[in-house]
Amino acid sequence: MNDKRLESILDEQRVFPPNPEFAAGARFDAERLAAMQAAAEADHDGYWAGLARELLHWRQPFTQALDASRAPNYRWFADGRLNVSENCLDLHLAERGDKPAILFEGEGGDRRRITYRELTAAVCRFANALRAQGIEAGDRVVIYMPMVPEAVIAMQACARIGAIHSVVFGGFSANSLRERIIDAGARMVITADGGHRGGQIVELKKATDKALADGCDSVETVIVLKRADCGCAMQAGRDIWWADAIEAQPEHCEPLALEAEHPLFLLYTSGSTGKPKGVQHSSAGYLLHARLTAELVFDLRDDDVFWCTADVGWITGHTYVAYGPLAAGATIVMYEGAPTYPDGGRFWSICQKHGVTVFYTAPTAIRALMRLGDDIPAQYDLSKLRLLGTVGEPINPEAWIWYHEVIGKQRCPIVDTWWQTETGGIMISPVPGVTPTKPGSCTKPLPGIAADIVDEDGNSVTEPGHGGYLVIRKPWPSMLRTIWGDNERYQDTYWKKFGGRFYVAGDSAHRDADGYFWIMGRIDDVLNVSGHRLGTMEVESALVAHPRVAEAAVVGRPHEIKGEAIFAFVVPRGPRPAGDEAAALTAELRDWVAEQLGPIAKPDDIRFADNLPKTRSGKIMRRLLRAIARGEEITQDVSTLENPAIIAQLRGEA
Ligand code: WT7
Repeated sequence: MNDKRLESILDEQRVFPPNPEFAAGARFDAERLAAMQAAAEADHDGYWAGLARELLHWRQPFTQALDASRAPNYRWFADGRLNVSENCLDLHLAERGDKPAILFEGEGGDRRRITYRELTAAVCRFANALRAQGIEAGDRVVIYMPMVPEAVIAMQACARIGAIHSVVFGGFSANSLRERIIDAGARMVITADGGHRGGQIVELKKATDKALADGCDSVETVIVLKRADCGCAMQAGRDIWWADAIEAQPEHCEPLALEAEHPLFLLYTSGSTGKPKGVQHSSAGYLLHARLTAELVFDLRDDDVFWCTADVGWITGHTYVAYGPLAAGATIVMYEGAPTYPDGGRFWSICQKHGVTVFYTAPTAIRALMRLGDDIPAQYDLSKLRLLGTVGEPINPEAWIWYHEVIGKQRCPIVDTWWQTETGGIMISPVPGVTPTKPGSCTKPLPGIAADIVDEDGNSVTEPGHGGYLVIRKPWPSMLRTIWGDNERYQDTYWKKFGGRFYVAGDSAHRDADGYFWIMGRIDDVLNVSGHRLGTMEVESALVAHPRVAEAAVVGRPHEIKGEAIFAFVVPRGPRPAGDEAAALTAELRDWVAEQLGPIAKPDDIRFADNLPKTRSGKIMRRLLRAIARGEEITQDVSTLENPAIIAQLRGEA
């Protein structure tokens, strides 16, 4: 961030104290949280060791919590052994064998209810099938599936025998799949003929065949689930139907006692440049944090129905679908399809039908649903909801308030959870029933998470409103262990900036007078306007607070005098204005931002479009927008773009 400080101009003053009714029944209270904080501060390693003994079932106990001898390749509980799948399944059988583990709804409305006993049996059979196909501990298995229970079964089956899974989001192209298969050196791909999304069939097997046609020599077997019945080619000697693979397999499979540090999975995440990084997670440390946060942040109790809407192709779908809630013995909801299929009430209809009590989604989904109007959620009974969560990007206060009022009926606490693929689980978040919340702030780090904000020299920035680098000062159990096949990139990306002293998240943030964290965006997205360093997110937040704006993305373009000019791409509510109407709205929005944030933040250019370019995970593709704002050629890969047709509009050509 050069020599200049990052300035915060967003000033959100509303505070929402915990709802006393919620607090009365919550698992954690202020005293317990304070005791955990104090314990973690007094003895960081000891705090985590205590939790690891309490919350995980060990086949062989560990004797040392943290091994820092190969820093920054930290190791946790390294001489202990356990099995992740045993922790998520077998251990619940005595008490909750007949409790539903998964409530599934397909896009077409088909439903399944799978108990812990049934899930365990299915995982065992599939684990045996993997072994029968020659898969052993340490082998990489790519999972490219729709959002159906078999995706979780496949992940848990890998965990049971120590195979390292790498889930590739079903919305990715054959090219993206190929790249990930090759990088991981996968021996097997697990896929489906197709899945249902937005009324269409996504032909996954077809894409798999295309990926495998070129350079994926490591792949020996492809297991294919029949889901969409859309017909697909099967290559003799390589491809086998899921049903045939499990047919002769017994419902028992002894979980393998694996080293705590055994890689549980790889998950590829796009870097700011170049090829995706295979983020490698461990077994014990990862599971510990997944389970702990499922209980601490989502307050999960035995009668809860937890719905995290993320696809298993993202880290959120790993930690809060496939692992954390199961380790906590909860009931989860899985939904196959698009959020607005067949209409904008689908999410709320699922909440009503399955009695969802805890609901976790992304701000982009909240904004999209908010845009459709309040009368849609009003048609559904959402009275079972008791807690709401968000993740993925800063939630703008407008959307937060809508979520709070229209979905949560002012009754449900909102947990705005900051974390990353690399952190494995939630790092900064309110503890519901304890932490007062402020719209747009993820509040404070969880106990044992030494998050801080530092300046260019690595000194803590404590002055309210001054931004800096978001860092984690001490290793934590669920941190990534390395980048698969490229440890140097791991060290460079996350540790180099401050000489290995702390983990650098790549986000900018500031703290307010109460010590609350406010994420300002990715460091790379910071604007420098006339020597003021501004977070893009604040300008976006001001824009979406205007009644005519549904979504906004802000980037910088070079400016002779100011250094950088602010270029805003705006998705209007209602029809896209043209001509005079566009000019009038542009003027109005510029004044609006100036009024909200000060003249410094006034956008120089505003362009209207029907949509923003997003990745399948809902992240705005800022590099693409920057190139457009600067009138440059688009060089980056747009194959993962959800809506490629939008580019002409963004360029102002359509
Ligand atoms: C980046 C990580 C972690 C699961 C989903 C995304 C942004 C995430 C928040 C939040 C503000 C957030 C950060 C972070 N982010 N949660 N609550 N408030 N920003 O995982 O794809 O690895 O992205 O998402 O910029 O670094 P991911």
